[in-house]
Amino acid sequence: MAVKAVIGTQWGDEGKGKIVDFLSKDVDYVVRFQGGSNAGHTIKIGNQTFKFHLLPSGVIRGKIGVIANGVVVDPEVLIGEVEKLKEKGIEPKLMISDRANVVMPYHKLLDGAEETYLGKKKIGTTRRGIGPCYSDKVARRGIRVGDLLDRSVLREKLEMIVPIKKNLLKIYGMEESRIDVEDLIDRYSDYGNKIRAFVKDTTLELNRAIKEGKEILLEGAQGVMLDVDFGTYPFTTSSNTISGGACTGSGISPKLINEIIGVVKAYTTRVGSGPLPTELKDEIGKHLQEKGGEFGTTTGRARRCGWLDLVVVKYACMICGIDKIAITKLDVLDGLKKVKICVGYDYNGETIENFPSDIRVLENIKPIYEEFDGWESTKNVKSFEELPKSAKDYIRFIEDFLNVPVEMISVGAEREKTIFV
Ligand code: IMP
Repeated sequence: MAVKAVIGTQWGDEGKGKIVDFLSKDVDYVVRFQGGSNAGHTIKIGNQTFKFHLLPSGVIRGKIGVIANGVVVDPEVLIGEVEKLKEKGIEPKLMISDRANVVMPYHKLLDGAEETYLGKKKIGTTRRGIGPCYSDKVARRGIRVGDLLDRSVLREKLEMIVPIKKNLLKIYGMEESRIDVEDLIDRYSDYGNKIRAFVKDTTLELNRAIKEGKEILLEGAQGVMLDVDFGTYPFTTSSNTISGGACTGSGISPKLINEIIGVVKAYTTRVGSGPLPTELKDEIGKHLQEKGGEFGTTTGRARRCGWLDLVVVKYACMICGIDKIAITKLDVLDGLKKVKICVGYDYNGETIENFPSDIRVLENIKPIYEEFDGWESTKNVKSFEELPKSAKDYIRFIEDFLNVPVEMISVGAEREKTIFV
């Protein structure tokens, strides 16, 4: 199989980092195609923990990491991650698209200012400047990575953009003098020089590699429910997190993607505002949060937790064309007397089986649950057959409901705690 994509089917934080790390042992390239440093991918190897916001997870295995055109790059974060890896003795092999847009300091300031302005209605963003950067990209006034390599181009663009941003900051009641054109030109030209050797037309490189029969893994960030078109809009991120985003975000044709793997956490979590139909505000919710270590990698915020919602995952499978499923964090459900799965929504007495496009409907539904017996422990289990009977029933139910095979089950953060079905 030449090209595979790994996609989060819920609200992000499904444990994609671990699955990508696992799958990347057999590939040549690992590609980030959307999002930016709002993502937080954690990989645990032995007693070392790696946390990446921008670098593709495969770089720790010595694979070529590609930051493709659909990503919004904060060069300060990127250079910091490269330095940190070098300190650990790993020299990452990296390619950055000259087409990728750059997150500038005014994007981060505006992200914060917009959230403050929204008050109680805020999105709960990571404040990494993601929304304002993608807005500039679509409005065709973005700075691209290629622009950082030419000081005169950078000057020309910044002299046009910065006065607009200063005015915007003033409207939000923020100190506009925090943005200075000369300072930005100096700092961002300097970042350009530091990353110059990595900057490439990654679309050409990737398509050439595919022709040569190389193996490519496309690493999704966030999840389908945070997709700007298909998620719980406006409580979403600003990119296309679905499998289609892997094509627009990398320049790889949809015809060339051979396999799409959906990552499903055994329960549901969400960070930030917006509807979460199966949210548990009780002891069980607390259990999932504590046992699952459900605190954001990027912001440290506590994640909201609830039962697995298969209406959500089924919708994700439909939009993304998921071929196989990887279930993560099954061990977090260990020790619960009963476990539940949401299989539909009750909306004013009517049963809804498909995920609604209108969040006002979603905010007023009650989940319909299927209940299962709990199980003791999955911790030291090495094969599907060894799983407790009720855990097997839980997995088989997911498979039947989605009509998609479960191929991997993760029962712990470490690489070896992975079961192949
Ligand atoms: P933004 O992407 O920073 O604009 O945040 C928009 C929404 O997406 C907020 O609810 C964030 O909490 C959420 N979000 C962004 N990135 C991630 C992620 O990697 N995992 C989980 N949630 C995320």
